[in-house]
Amino acid sequence: PGPAAALNLQDIEDFAEKVLTATAWAYYRSTSDDEYSYWENFASFKRFWFRPRVLNKISVISTETTMFGLPSSLPIFVAPAALARLGHTDGEMNLTRAAGAEGIPQGISSNSSCSVDEIMAAKRPDQNLIFQLYVNRDRAASERVIRNLEKQGFKAIMLTVDAPLAGNRELDRRTKGFASTAGPAHGKTGPEDSGVASAISGYQDPDVCWDDIPWIQSLTKLPLIIKGIQCIEDAEKAFEYGAQSIILSNHGGRSLDFSPAPMTVLYELHKLRPDLLKKHEVYIDGGVRRGTDVLKALCLGARGVGLGRPFLWGNSVWGEEGCRRVVEIMREEIVTGMRFLGITRLDQLTPDLVQYFDRDPV
Ligand code: FNR
Repeated sequence: PGPAAALNLQDIEDFAEKVLTATAWAYYRSTSDDEYSYWENFASFKRFWFRPRVLNKISVISTETTMFGLPSSLPIFVAPAALARLGHTDGEMNLTRAAGAEGIPQGISSNSSCSVDEIMAAKRPDQNLIFQLYVNRDRAASERVIRNLEKQGFKAIMLTVDAPLAGNRELDRRTKGFASTAGPAHGKTGPEDSGVASAISGYQDPDVCWDDIPWIQSLTKLPLIIKGIQCIEDAEKAFEYGAQSIILSNHGGRSLDFSPAPMTVLYELHKLRPDLLKKHEVYIDGGVRRGTDVLKALCLGARGVGLGRPFLWGNSVWGEEGCRRVVEIMREEIVTGMRFLGITRLDQLTPDLVQYFDRDPV
């Protein structure tokens, strides 16, 4: 069947599970330890219910916004994810073509399987790409990468801070896959029998710390996004250090099990530091699978949300068309949700449109 056969993002995941190799499925799907954080990412959205407003004019809807200072047709971005070529020979290029066609920003992983040149050639002239950085133990190598980003055409730099090492992803380790399509950003540094994740993460410097933020900022004028913030204290710190924006994330449940769902951290920020949410852009990613998830996050003050695996699934089944189908489904669901909430613009998504249940409600 074609992409239209998928009515929702779960359908796309189900198709992907059927077509992917065991190694690719295991790498994409795997999460840490007992998967509590992975499942909590989904569950956390279900604790928020709407308080819809009726009898408003809803024929004309706009989902336009800016994220990271970049225009976007939807409050959704492609979260950076490694090794898209495990699912399709065109790899990240498909995600880039789809993001360009749909008008949304994309994060390009340090561990992309396509080269930056390939990805830049696949993008539209007006399309905005963000480089996701893992810092190399060889600092000179990272320095070269960072200094080059502006010239290459990237619009921002996204430093990922929640994965200084690979999480304990047992599904991945069991399949003993090896990242034979690993890209040029790094060497194949892990042992061959320990799973894809460990094979591609060995170059990372585990001693990257707050003091390195000024170093990164000294090498580029691009705005700095910090991805992987998991508590209020670090959110405050990130802004003190001059981050333009932050992404609350637990790496899709792939790093520390029992790290909180980003929606939980966002709710805490909303309750305790609403001033931060007003002053700065805060994003979340992890477990976003429905338009209503996006709307809830925006009600609590998020500027936008990232999706990781859904694009890998779409790419694996139908390439570029599959990635576009992910956005198309989200677009339909977001517009429908806005109509039922009685609003026509994203800036009308306010906290009074949701309520929190301190229990799993159904
Ligand atoms: C990721 N993620 C990720 N993040 C990052 O900053 N750099 C990376 O190279 C990767 N690689 C990666 C590979 C795979 C297979 C997955 C599933 C995820 C994390 C990603 O950006 C995002 O945080 C999560 O994917 C969000 O969760 P969902 O949408 O997959 O539930």
